[in-house]
Amino acid sequence: MPTQLKQIRQKLEQLPHQNYWNISPQVGEYLRNLVIKLNVKRLLEIGTSNGYSATWFAEGLQATGGKMWTVESHAERYAEATANIAAAGLSNIVTQIKGHAPEILVEYPEIAQIDFAFFDATKGEYSQYLQAVLPLLSPKGIIVADNVKSHWDSLSDFVDATQQLKGYTPKLNLELGTGLLTLIPTQQLSNIDA
Ligand SMILES: C[S@@+](CC[C@H](N)C(=O)[O-])C[C@H]1O[C@@H](n2cnc3c(N)ncnc32)[C@H](O)[C@@H]1O
Repeated sequence: MPTQLKQIRQKLEQLPHQNYWNISPQVGEYLRNLVIKLNVKRLLEIGTSNGYSATWFAEGLQATGGKMWTVESHAERYAEATANIAAAGLSNIVTQIKGHAPEILVEYPEIAQIDFAFFDATKGEYSQYLQAVLPLLSPKGIIVADNVKSHWDSLSDFVDATQQLKGYTPKLNLELGTGLLTLIPTQQLSNIDA
């Protein structure tokens, strides 16, 4: 791992969790490895915060030759992310979008054929993200949603919606971090061990 990336990650891991709500290093490693395993080329993140999770995704995408878009509505965290992603040497892989998801997505028609979408923003909005992002997925595209364990009550409608979807199978991993739900195209289930 390049020194600059390591240094930025270490710096961000020292910050108070309640200021940025970053994923844990363990979840970051898991997501980076999943990006590599699935050979993800196009990734969309909703909820950049200060860019910590983006450093993990972008590291995976460096290995696959892919790229990502990440959306953040909070101006200061957006600016912090810009600085952190640049300092980590990842600006060529990460395109930041300042705005509120999901509405902002229609302004970026290049966000299409997404292989991997990550939801980590306002929990009560996940069902809206789902409806907006499903048409943007590639045939092998998956969605990973964070916080299904820590925010089970506010995410129950979203979890129900994923269970009703035709052509997709949701898998819960409540042991990892704050709980992940991975929505997988059913035809891809045998290829993906999420
Ligand atoms: C849990 S933090 C994201 C943490 C980040 N993924 C990480 O692990 O480093 C959630 C972020 O989503 C942003 N957010 C919440 N709702 C949003 C929305 N609808 N559109 C864009 N950003 C949103 C918040 O401002 C906050 O910075």
